[in-house]
This record gives sequence, C-alpha cells and structure tokens, in this order.
Amino acid sequence: MTVLAKTRLRDRVLSGHGTLMGQCLEAGLPVASSCSGRGACARCAVSVLAGMEALSKPDTHELLVLARNGYLEQVRLSCQCRVWDRSAMVLITTGYW
Ligand code: FES
Repeated sequence: MTVLAKTRLRDRVLSGHGTLMGQCLEAGLPVASSCSGRGACARCAVSVLAGMEALSKPDTHELLVLARNGYLEQVRLSCQCRVWDRSAMVLITTGYW
C-alpha cells in the first residue's frame, strides 16, 4: 500500500494502519478537527485524487455529513475512512497542506 499526501512542498508517504486522519497525524501532517475525529465537524475532509476504490465505503452518517457540508464525490472525512486495499495507491490532499 502506498498512501501519499500531496502538499505544497512535496508528496509525503503515509504509513501505518487506522484512519487516514491517524496516518496523517502520525506523519506529522496537521488535520483540521473540531470534533476529535467523531465524524461530526467535517473539518478533516480530504480530497481523494486517486485510489478512492481502495478506501472503506462511507457509511450513512459520513455521507450525511459530507452532503450537509456541500462536499463533492471525491471527498472523504479522513477520520472516518481507512485503506482497505493495501496493494493500492491512494493520493489525498487538502487546501491547507
Ligand atoms: S474530525 Fe470532525 S469530522 Fe473528522
């Protein structure tokens, strides 16, 4: 599995298990949050530039939060999704990296 976080300076390789948010934080990348990863604030949203199919499917609650915040299809709450297909390449970014 390769998970890359695209930042203004360079792409960062994320490792480990758990949610995308957890992997970002472990790599030293900040992730916005005001709900501590409970899936309520949507501040942790990331754009998935590649590898959406390798991520866990959003549940009803995540879909509701994404829709309520006007996010498009290629956006996920990083605190709610995990990489399931460990052979895939996933590329994510946010507006503040
Ligand atoms: S941290 Fe609040 S929804 Fe993910």
